[in-house]
Amino acid sequence: MRILCIGGGPAGLYLALLLKKADPRHAVRVVERNRPYDTFGWGVVFSDQTLGNLAAADPETARTITDAFNHWDDIAVHFKGRTITSGGHGFCGIGRKRLLNILQARCEALGVELVFESDVTDDVAAAQAFAADVAIASDGLNSRIRARYADSFAPDVDMRHCRFVWLGTKQRFPAFTFAFVETPHGWFQAHAYQYDGDTSTFIVETPEETWRASGLEAMSQQEGIAFCERLFAPWLGGHALMSNAAHLRGSAIWIRFPRVVCRTWVHWNAIAGRRVPVILMGDAAHTAHFSVGSGTKLALEDAIALARALQAPGDLAKALEAYEAERSVEVLKIQNAARNSTEWFENVKRYTAFEAEQFAYSLLTRSQRISHENLRVRDSAFVANLETWFADRAHPPAHPVSAAGPPQGANRAPDGGSAAATAASVGVVHRAAGLPQGARQQAALGGSAAATAASVGARHPPPMFTPFTLRGITLKNRVVVSPMAQYSCRDGTPDDFYLVHLGSRAHGGAGLVFTEMVCVAADARISPGCAGMYAPDHVAAWKRIVDYVHERTSAKIAIQLGHAGPKGSTQLGWEIADAPLAAGNWPLIAPSAIPYGPENQTPRAMTRADMDRVRDEFVNAARGAIEAGFDWLELHLAHGYLLSAFLCPLTNRRDDAFGGSLENRCRFPLEVFRAVRAVWPDDKPMSVRISAHDWAEGGNTPDDAVAIAKMFRAAGADLIDVSSGQTTRLARPVYGRMYQTPFSDRVRNEAGIATMAVGAIFEPDHVNSILMAGRADLCALARPHLADPYWTLHAAAQLGVSDAEWPVQYLAGKEQLERNLARAAQLAAEQPEANG
Ligand SMILES: Cc1cc2nc3c(=O)[nH]c(=O)nc-3n(C[C@H](O)[C@H](O)[C@H](O)COP(=O)(O)OP(=O)(O)OC[C@H]3O[C@@H](n4cnc5c(N)ncnc54)[C@H](O)[C@@H]3O)c2cc1C
Ligand SMILES: Cc1cc2nc3c(=O)[nH]c(=O)nc-3n(C[C@H](O)[C@H](O)[C@H](O)COP(=O)(O)O)c2cc1C
Repeated sequence: MRILCIGGGPAGLYLALLLKKADPRHAVRVVERNRPYDTFGWGVVFSDQTLGNLAAADPETARTITDAFNHWDDIAVHFKGRTITSGGHGFCGIGRKRLLNILQARCEALGVELVFESDVTDDVAAAQAFAADVAIASDGLNSRIRARYADSFAPDVDMRHCRFVWLGTKQRFPAFTFAFVETPHGWFQAHAYQYDGDTSTFIVETPEETWRASGLEAMSQQEGIAFCERLFAPWLGGHALMSNAAHLRGSAIWIRFPRVVCRTWVHWNAIAGRRVPVILMGDAAHTAHFSVGSGTKLALEDAIALARALQAPGDLAKALEAYEAERSVEVLKIQNAARNSTEWFENVKRYTAFEAEQFAYSLLTRSQRISHENLRVRDSAFVANLETWFADRAHPPAHPVSAAGPPQGANRAPDGGSAAATAASVGVVHRAAGLPQGARQQAALGGSAAATAASVGARHPPPMFTPFTLRGITLKNRVVVSPMAQYSCRDGTPDDFYLVHLGSRAHGGAGLVFTEMVCVAADARISPGCAGMYAPDHVAAWKRIVDYVHERTSAKIAIQLGHAGPKGSTQLGWEIADAPLAAGNWPLIAPSAIPYGPENQTPRAMTRADMDRVRDEFVNAARGAIEAGFDWLELHLAHGYLLSAFLCPLTNRRDDAFGGSLENRCRFPLEVFRAVRAVWPDDKPMSVRISAHDWAEGGNTPDDAVAIAKMFRAAGADLIDVSSGQTTRLARPVYGRMYQTPFSDRVRNEAGIATMAVGAIFEPDHVNSILMAGRADLCALARPHLADPYWTLHAAAQLGVSDAEWPVQYLAGKEQLERNLARAAQLAAEQPEANG
């Protein structure tokens, strides 16, 4: 086979050497426009895992690369005069030039033809000249070939929001270093790591507006570099910052990162009567933000997969399809993580009110690929310190748990080498707050540096088992049974099923148990089976359940009040959800006469009289909830029901004071909120559930969610329960683990109000990661609680929190479960290979 690689970066060179190694009969040529030692950039990083892949593909290259590596384990976060260090991360750094030279040398040794200083302007002509069977577009980020065949590849290029410059320095860094500096115009961050004996990469990044306001756009390259040297002087130890982009003028070294995705990776040309594929790989096919350090890894792993495909016997087209399918999935995974990471660095300001501990944790877990338990495996002392930090700030502070700790071996690892450094760095100085104003549970920031340091070693509960207080209500932990309609009432009255259903969830350990959406009137119901709070019988029936929860468990119980609006008069959840009843439908109301779907009834647009009636029904239901003894009241402003339909611009088309702008759309829901707040006791919290994203063109977005949250906070809401979607049939949500948590993060940290995250949170590790990173104050789980009412108690046993409160009647079960888990963990520790 004759293979032509256009572009001699990591992708092109590595593919060339792998192919030549696999079969020396191949003729492989790499054409590179630069000279052999010319390249942009400084060092690149790999994880230990990438090294393993390289060793399997070509041990020789892997060995040389490994010998040239600078290896480190620690990540140090420098923020507001503090340094938080976490260990066990396992990274390698290598100079880009060094890497390319190793690959070039290996290519030459194997007999690959390397052609330097040759800029390919026409890939077809180059392929023809070489009589290539296959042409590889390994021509990098700004791939000319990708642009030429844009109709086939359909590239989607998203220019990200920050400006960054890739510099080098002779300052040496013992850890992968993130440094954050505030200027009058905004925050700048440096990402720095040492990649050989005396050189480090030093990337400086800042949002576009901060870059412009700082005057960097008008500065020469040298002035811009001098600016960075002044800004980061405390980290540079007198060393200069260096650029190797002499060819770029003025501020052109400051670039915005383009996120590249291509629909297809293979284009077929007809050359001299033959079909010759042009195949994208590396940065030409995709990019992943530098903050996840994966661009070179992806390029090299593309090469491994493409070499395999080109060697496969049989149909080349099929083999290339397989290459594209395999690599697209891998790339998507990294790009998802990279997107979260990019957005974190674009929005550093959102987190700068945090204390350094939480700021560092938020940074480390930003991509959602690293969780609480991953971090514990990497550096158990670091996590223990942070758990102490969190528990000290819980209100009231959580006390150390009586257990010795989680079952040894399960998620625990021996303390990393940095434990001492971490202990020393945690608690250097305690700064105030760092949490959103108005997040009242965090208002009483107790604890001192000495106390934090002294308690290192004592085991505090993980974040999910710390208490949480709003107004006069203290929850024993941060797990919430999310509202879930059971469609099993007759005329709105909850019967024994509800007593058992909610009672067993209250026994199951969650700090707060929600009722389903309880409807404020008969015509406010979603279905004939829905629960109500509009008749004396309802109050009595709910009181029986609330009394049971209060008398027999330590859980608190919340009522969610709602009105179905345009989504009313439909079948039971397990019938055809959201479809009208076969018979006996009742008339519907909504902000505008817009049916939820084509099969749904068209509601009547509400008059002022309807609004008065509905507001009074909510108030009346709230009075019922007070009489029944509920601890907490939530208004349901999500999922397309009546109040949600006011908020959503797709369902609210009114041209009066209740439609149009977001302020107008919030007017009626706020009126209802205020009326309910006025009767709801002062010492009890009120939350609102919102759809933070309509997931539809023209609908509300997370920006709107932040604005909505601010309005409700000003009206006296204590917490926003951050859900999304279900407001329009046009919605195209993107599901995934914890998929709504980023909205909670935004609302909490931009609107400055406590939040509850919900949606595909199903492991204790998810809950702890979310809480510790300050992405929410509570986590609600719905479906996991249908599968397991005792989810929280099981999580406690798994995490070794032995003082979680089990019903005394069930203590024998608790002891056996804990024993069995400890035994399983011990076995796993003794036979680590069984863990794969
Ligand atoms: C600031 C920054 C930091 C980064 N940090 C990391 C990191 O830590 N870890 C990591 O893995 N990745 C990192 N990357 C990404 C990494 O540099 C790229 O993902 C990687 O180099 C991609 O390899 P490639 O071979 O596909 O493309 P490139 O390395 O861009 O190689 C393409 C080559 O093609 C040549 N070329 C282009 N057009 C032509 C033409 N028409 N004719 C001939 N030759 C041509 C170019 O000169 C170039 O040598 C970083 C990137 C940036 C911008
Ligand atoms: C059977 C069922 C009924 C639900 N009923 C309600 C409800 O009455 N009110 C509400 O706000 N959300 C309701 N939801 C949504 C859940 O509270 C939750 O937001 C959603 O299921 C995502 O969480 P999960 O991934 O933990 O299941 C319901 C969900 C389920 C599965």
